[in-house]
Amino acid sequence: MDKLLVHGGTPIHGTITISGSKNASLPILAATLLTEEDCVIRRVPDVSDTNYMVQILTGLGSDVERFSGTVRVNAADITDTAPYDIVRRMRASVCMMGPLLARKHRCVVALPGGCVIGDRPIDLHIRGLEALGAKTEVAGGNVILSAPGGLKGANVDLCGDNGPTVLGTDNVMMAAALAEGTTTITSAACEPEVVDLADFLNSMGAKVSGAGTPVITVEGVEKLHGCVHNVIPDRIEAGTFMAAAALAGEGVTLRRVNEGHLASISQALRKAGHQVHFNDTGDACTVHRGETPMPAEIVTEPYPGYPTDMQAQMTALFVTTPGTSVVVDTIFPQRFMHCAELKRMGADITLSEGKAIITGVKSLSAAPVMASDLRASAALVLAALTAKGTTEINRLYHIDRGYEHIDEKLLALGANVERVRE
Ligand code: EPZ
Repeated sequence: MDKLLVHGGTPIHGTITISGSKNASLPILAATLLTEEDCVIRRVPDVSDTNYMVQILTGLGSDVERFSGTVRVNAADITDTAPYDIVRRMRASVCMMGPLLARKHRCVVALPGGCVIGDRPIDLHIRGLEALGAKTEVAGGNVILSAPGGLKGANVDLCGDNGPTVLGTDNVMMAAALAEGTTTITSAACEPEVVDLADFLNSMGAKVSGAGTPVITVEGVEKLHGCVHNVIPDRIEAGTFMAAAALAGEGVTLRRVNEGHLASISQALRKAGHQVHFNDTGDACTVHRGETPMPAEIVTEPYPGYPTDMQAQMTALFVTTPGTSVVVDTIFPQRFMHCAELKRMGADITLSEGKAIITGVKSLSAAPVMASDLRASAALVLAALTAKGTTEINRLYHIDRGYEHIDEKLLALGANVERVRE
């Protein structure tokens, strides 16, 4: 139950290095279940979600070693039932289904519970895996998928009411890698994390093509082997620090980023009057707060559109930007838990279905606030950087789920923060 004290008003500046991507690491760790051989994954961020995934792999019987950002997994001898006690703590455990079903022809995974960011069904995952021949049963709070004769390649469309599904695309891609025949996934998610998983699968000997486009083709193979892989940089961690720099910065440089992955975030910050410069190789960027910050409209969309995981941070930026800004979340229309807490700090925000209308105020005042989910807590930290006084951010475990040592990185940028262990 750690909390973070943020003594506001100190500008941030300097250089930090961005960690590996949480959302690429999770499905890649799950994909190690597809082979009996050793997989070595580097740049896995030390955050609670990857720790949960390591615990689930161990609970399934894998031999796992972890040392400073590198995880070695050997899943030679595994069961088909994921441990409920860990699975219930992390929605992303759902990406166990594809690899377990492909490898063991059966899997038992707890149905995910409720989520504060909104309704998160898994109907598209089930639709995709059933198209490959799996039979589904729901019993005792678990989803049980079985395919005694193995999976068969098929055409699968993964378009839902709110667009494609990221982990659904991952699940079907992993299952199809060991299926008999060819699978074509249409309306696939195009996120860089999906591409990183496809690269990992291909390093294991899979035949995946088209990742990063809405049409992915997977030619099933009989067996996959071990490999070594470096995870891509975390574009959402990078985006969060870019927004922090626009809010409270006097020149913040981020090393180990990917310019292409940050295109929509850079564009949004420039539209809001801030400066974003990448170096020639596009793997480092420097952000300066603009002289005349401007209100803007942000609409979240599947990649390459503006990410929903950066919606809250942008809302925090607009809270003290003169004029009226609008933020629309088309992927998780209820994902505005941070707004009530920002209002406790003096923000002027009006919410209506899937939209926040933000009227900029001169300044915020510090207050005790409650983190509700990963990205909402990042927004509270950003707002607190400029607020007058000391803001107390409670339930810090939310931010530790996806940001590696965020307090140490903020301290390295000169912010006046302290973690209080409880
Ligand atoms: C991934 O979640 C990310 N998580 C989320 O990041 C991110 O917000 C989300 O993609 C969207 O970009 C990881 O990668 C671990 P979806 P995922 O399935 O795959 C609906 C963070 O902050 N849907 O792409 O679970 C769903 O309700 C996290 O790091 C169905 O209707 O999200 C949503 O509206 C939070 N049926 C939309 O699709 C389904 O079967 C997109 O969800 C699946 C999804």
